[in-house]
Order: sequence, then C-alpha cells, then structure tokens
Amino acid sequence: MADFEPKIVAFLCNWCSYAGADKAGGQKLSYSPNVKLIRVMCSGRVDPQFVMDAFRQGADGVMVLGCHPGDCHYRNGNHKTQKRMILLEKLLQQFGIHKERFLLDWVSAGESEKFQKLTNSMNEKIAELGPLRLTGNREVS
Ligand code: FES
Repeated sequence: MADFEPKIVAFLCNWCSYAGADKAGGQKLSYSPNVKLIRVMCSGRVDPQFVMDAFRQGADGVMVLGCHPGDCHYRNGNHKTQKRMILLEKLLQQFGIHKERFLLDWVSAGESEKFQKLTNSMNEKIAELGPLRLTGNREVS
C-alpha cells in the first residue's frame, strides 16, 4: 500500500474554514494535495447525503470544517451540522464505513495552522486505513 494516494474531500464553510485554508496558502503552509476543497457558504449546507455521495464516488475520506460553535455567520448552521453529523456517523456505521474516514471539526479564519494539521493528520489516517472499497454500499476490509 506504499503507493496509495488517499482521495479526501473537504467541505469548508466560506466564512471561517475556507478563509483558514486560504490563509494557510498565503503563509505557504503545506498541506496534503490529496485533499480536495469544496467551498460551501456554511457547514450547515452540507447534507449527510453529500458525504455519502463523496464516498460512493471514490473518496477515501471526507472532512466537514466549519466555524467554531457560536461563530457561524448564519447563527446556528454549525449546530445543525453537528446534530446531522451524529446521524451521519450512525449511517456510516450501518454501511460499515470506518468512522475514522469522516471528520467534523471547526477551523476559524485565523487558524491556518489548525487547518494544516487537520488535513495532514486526516491524510495520514486514511493512508493507514487504505483505500475505501465499497461493495453493495458496504466497506470491504
Ligand atoms: Fe461557517 Fe456557518 S458560516 S459554519
């Protein structure tokens, strides 16, 4: 599995996490090129179905990053995300997808180093787990 390059999809809210990623770029903090960023206006916009679709379409790992609780620009979008993602974790379990393949966390516009750390550690974690192989919507180990 030495040549395995994980495919990771990261949904980032526009106002905090994407700005944090942008700042990381501006500071030339390197993070894994395996992480493909998708900008959404709020983490609350990320339907659990988006995460499942990303896995079905070949992602080995999925991240959702939003503003810290209390900082959401749409007041409570991230609270809704948090509740939905608890349900998503159960769904992942049902489909036999290892829970470490999904990450929900908070990154503010100033936390470029946290963004770098999270993406790099996700990449390492997924590299250890290996590629996601779904058969009939279930992970095969
Ligand atoms: Fe960032 Fe809602 S605007 S989580």
